[in-house]
Amino acid sequence: MQVVFLGLPGAGKGTQAVSITEEFHIPHIATGDMFREAKAAKTPLGKEVQEYLDKGLLVPDELTIRLVRERLGQADARHGFLLDGFPRTLPQAQALDGMLAEEGLGLTHVLYLLVSETELLQRLTGRRVCPDCGASYHAAFHPPRSAGVCDRCGGALIQRADDRPEAVSVRLRENLERTRMLSEFYEKRGLLATIDGERPIGHVYDEIRQALRGDHS
Ligand code: AP5
Ligand code: MG
Ligand code: ZN
Repeated sequence: MQVVFLGLPGAGKGTQAVSITEEFHIPHIATGDMFREAKAAKTPLGKEVQEYLDKGLLVPDELTIRLVRERLGQADARHGFLLDGFPRTLPQAQALDGMLAEEGLGLTHVLYLLVSETELLQRLTGRRVCPDCGASYHAAFHPPRSAGVCDRCGGALIQRADDRPEAVSVRLRENLERTRMLSEFYEKRGLLATIDGERPIGHVYDEIRQALRGDHS
């Protein structure tokens, strides 16, 4: 199962990824999470990408592709993966095809989470995240059991630097056209499953499960 999760910032990729990895036992590989970890650890990669992340701009393809190539080469990704936030550009999509072809593999599913821009803005501005395990919450739509504390690991929740209004509008601008192009790219190849991402979290997951299982029960 080689799955790509496509969707604009705030569409719910990270939220749904938690349930997918639990049920389908595939690693969740999120380039945004990997970049944020590098930034927090102040590694050379982290220093290089910090400004892009904070402003909401895309990190250059070359860096991003190298990161994913290394990650997909690790043992836990050999029997499938869920890629969240990659690819985001056509060159990234082509590079991914190349990496998989080298292993005699190909993508099995591309899940496209569709959410309107008005809803995305509400979600991003109210989001709080766990810096320790990456879980996402929302003050109104998905509150943690105990305010400010992660349900999964007890970490203290924070607001992401790129969830400030200035960065949110840059992220949407950076991704709108590219996401549309990628959805067409995968649609033409018969891989795309478009999911209504605007419904409650559990309903969205039911649709995802059906798409991944290939049945419609
Ligand atoms: P990344 O971390 O991938 O950010 P993003 O694409 O902007 O997506 P988000 O993580 O913001 O949204 P999400 O879809 O995961 O939503 P979530 O589940 O949290 O990338 C960050 C940065 O890294 C980029 O800007 C770029 O700089 C760099 N980068 C990463 N990948 C790159 C690449 N391939 N190339 C170049 N640069 C790259 O949900 C959002 C909120 O909504 C939460 O509060 C949640 O609780 C709530 N919510 C979720 N589902 C629902 C629902 N059904 N109903 C109501 N509320 C909901
Ligand atoms: Mg995310
Ligand atoms: Zn946590």
